[in-house]
Amino acid sequence: MEIKTQPDSVYDEIYRKAEPYLDTRRNDVHVSLSYDFARRLLAHYPNADEEIVLPAIVLHDVGWKMVPEEKQLGAFGPKVKDKKTQRMHETEGVKIAEKILTRLNYDKEKILEILSIIDGHDTRPEALSLNDQLVKDADKLWRFTPTGVDIDHTRFGIPRDSYMKWLDTVIDDWLFTPQAKEMAHAALTEAKCTLES
Ligand SMILES: [Fe+2]
Ligand SMILES: [Fe+2]
Repeated sequence: MEIKTQPDSVYDEIYRKAEPYLDTRRNDVHVSLSYDFARRLLAHYPNADEEIVLPAIVLHDVGWKMVPEEKQLGAFGPKVKDKKTQRMHETEGVKIAEKILTRLNYDKEKILEILSIIDGHDTRPEALSLNDQLVKDADKLWRFTPTGVDIDHTRFGIPRDSYMKWLDTVIDDWLFTPQAKEMAHAALTEAKCTLES
């Protein structure tokens, strides 16, 4: 996978340590796209802390690796039935992220904030901070891209057109920051103009 940061940055290291946990549920594709969105959002919100936001977005879904693949589909998406498994991917993710960051000697205070963001990234509807808002927004933004639309409408069994119409209606509900809402509209417009690959 292409690493999007400067060579040898601490974020590259974190990404490399996360990668073995991302080869499930198309999380390699999801996290790569969401990482780009996080960087773009950080450029608009200088009060946010990239040392929190970037590790949190890279590590937020590592816990899916601990969920058997046959149980994953019931635990995310528009028809979540298995809330227990949905929660499990957060709590397992916190444990894995803590190990990765501690081994890299990451700042202890920052580890605590990153873990608190990962802990509720799907099940906690409100954001704890601007950092949390950017992570939550970056996490969801990939769904509006042509790649995200193609992956999700297929695995959720929803026709592409009606899936995109539904996505249009959730932008204001899902996203916290005005910039993320703009990015979602732009990505969805691109998806509408793109034929399924
Ligand atoms: Fe998640
Ligand atoms: Fe995610």
